[in-house]
Amino acid sequence: MNILVLGSGGREHTFTHQIAKSPKCERLYVAPGNAGTAQIATNLKLGVTDFEGIKTAVLTHSIDLVVVGPEDPLVQGIYDFFKNDPALENVMIVGPSAEGAALEGSKERAKEFMAAHNIPTAAYESFTKETLVQGKAFLETLTPPYVLKADGLAAGKGVLILQDLEQAKAELESMLAHEKFGAASAKVVIEEFLDGIELSVFVLTDGNAYKVLPTAKDYKRIGEGDQGLNTGGMGAVSPVPFATPEFMEKIESRIVKPTVAGIKKEGLIYQGFVFIGLIKVGDDPYVIEYNVRMGDPETEVVLPRIETDLLTLLAATSRGELDTVPLVVTEDSAATVMAVSGGYPEAYEKGKTIHGLQQQTESVIFHAGTALDNEQVVTSGGRVLAVTSLDEDFREAIKKSYQTLSNLSFDKMYYRKDIGFDL
Ligand code: AMP
Ligand code: GLY
Repeated sequence: MNILVLGSGGREHTFTHQIAKSPKCERLYVAPGNAGTAQIATNLKLGVTDFEGIKTAVLTHSIDLVVVGPEDPLVQGIYDFFKNDPALENVMIVGPSAEGAALEGSKERAKEFMAAHNIPTAAYESFTKETLVQGKAFLETLTPPYVLKADGLAAGKGVLILQDLEQAKAELESMLAHEKFGAASAKVVIEEFLDGIELSVFVLTDGNAYKVLPTAKDYKRIGEGDQGLNTGGMGAVSPVPFATPEFMEKIESRIVKPTVAGIKKEGLIYQGFVFIGLIKVGDDPYVIEYNVRMGDPETEVVLPRIETDLLTLLAATSRGELDTVPLVVTEDSAATVMAVSGGYPEAYEKGKTIHGLQQQTESVIFHAGTALDNEQVVTSGGRVLAVTSLDEDFREAIKKSYQTLSNLSFDKMYYRKDIGFDL
């Protein structure tokens, strides 16, 4: 099979790395990719939402299967674009239709879906510019902290958690009346704050059968001890030690099964990943969000633990034959630590030469934001490298990643030293 992976981060390098191992993989392309994917695949200079450009590439390179990394192309309807075009309709694509992708594209839609299928989540109401006054009055009935969510995609920045009522009202006004997050905040979901610990569960479904993939926990804040600004993710571990078999049973029966059943009942075309963000409150799981793709950096710990041939799993998903493929997962734990550019998640410089990539190591160094500059690998993003290691003991896996990081460097490189230490 010839494969095209869409995206350019650590998640996509991980997909590419795992697919390249498959005996069924013939030619492998990534668009646009990074310096890491360039070593194992052919990078194509194409944006992930350039559907016409992607079509040309798929036909030129006789692509059989497309794996969509990020949410934007899915929410914009890349699945439907393929299925509605006679030249592309037979190409396999891993990812939901636009209707399915709305589970991530609209927070309100996700909440309505959960309500319709009795999936446990925080109580909520949603508001627009026209109902701003009612929104402020609703805030007065809640106890802090206040959770405000822009309805649409806001590059991971659309959720605000505020302690102060007056500040919450001001932010609500700024989102609804002054487009704080552009069109994404034309509607705002206000919800009950859930107090507990977070974990993520990943499900692969063909809309009928499903597989629960390994769990993961990511570390979102820039600073040690989970302090400071939110980032895309500074590290991750899999499995999550507190996701015991009993707790996973609750997640599967109360959340995963009703989610897949809901997708089927509503007739949504969905052949891809469901990334379920959860909070454990007491002993019970609640959904905080759906994503219609894999997480980053969660992918960097989830995929390396899957022993089943990834390409076989992905092809079976898009053929609606997922029930025919057994999922085998290693008992070993995986840990990934992200090296980022100094200044991230605020302003940072790019183009710094990265040293140490050729070292002998048991870890895998996934590239997140890298580019080639005259044969030199240089930084090209905020999150630069994700260093993943496996071991029977998760503490050893973490140690191995830190050992590898100690031999990697670029000007103003930063990483958190406490990934996994809370477990
Ligand atoms: P989201 O973009 O939906 O993942 O939200 C970003 C972060 O906000 C989540 O990872 C949680 O840490 C937090 N969050 C979202 N909703 C809630 C909630 N209802 N209660 C507590 N924390 C929340
Ligand atoms: N690491 C969180 C995400 O990918 O959304």
